Amino acid sequence: MEKVIDQKAFMDVIRERRSVRHYDPTAKISRDEIKEMLKEATLAPSSSNLQPWRFLIIDEQPLKEKLLPIAFNQKQVVEAAAIIAVLADYEGYKQAGNIYKKAVEAGYMTEEVKATLIDNINKRYENRDRAIIKEIALVDGGLVSMQLMLVAKARGYDTVPMGGYNSEKFKEAFQIPDQYETVMLIAVGKAAEPGHPTTRLDVEEITFWNEMPSK
Ligand SMILES: Cc1cc2nc3c(=O)[nH]c(=O)nc-3n(C[C@H](O)[C@H](O)[C@H](O)COP(=O)(O)O)c2cc1C
Repeated sequence: MEKVIDQKAFMDVIRERRSVRHYDPTAKISRDEIKEMLKEATLAPSSSNLQPWRFLIIDEQPLKEKLLPIAFNQKQVVEAAAIIAVLADYEGYKQAGNIYKKAVEAGYMTEEVKATLIDNINKRYENRDRAIIKEIALVDGGLVSMQLMLVAKARGYDTVPMGGYNSEKFKEAFQIPDQYETVMLIAVGKAAEPGHPTTRLDVEEITFWNEMPSK
């Protein structure tokens, strides 16, 4: 029988998510719940299922204070329950063996298919240009970030994605090895004030059928 997903609930989450910039500083989120949210968020798709996303959770107040000036004094950094730094791992492809081993154990593929896939991935990624790996990992990082924000909303929390921070200073202050790139920071917590409404371009303004318009 066809599985029917509760479309209304899903659309409510999508429609009601807004970037929230004022949080209740007393409201905490347990590490267990953050882990559950990440488990759900990481159901997002990724290139070759390599899941090159990594998460640095900043939930201790002194570290949030340290982040504040790096994030141009955006108050949500110290008021939200946690700041999730979404990182992209340049060496994410090295997890292919681990990822596909799980798939074999789950009965999703044979050893032979696994071996071929890993071989192809290694050939593609070894000595690959760092800029290309970055490009792929940032796309995957964007997908998981979006999913994380929707998961948080569905659980009664709010978020704001942040590109407004000094990435170099962030890497230095939080000792992020060269192996990782920053994707974005996501503040997550209990809203103290709703996010302000925003507008979108009309679908007609952004959609073309079969060919792009000539200039
Ligand atoms: C990659 C990215 C970076 C952003 N950086 C910031 C930021 O540094 N500070 C902030 O307050 N909002 C930031 N935003 C939130 C946007 O301003 C917001 O998503 C947009 O105005 C649409 O509003 P909405 O999220 O409420 O729908 C960022 C959003 C994205 C996707």
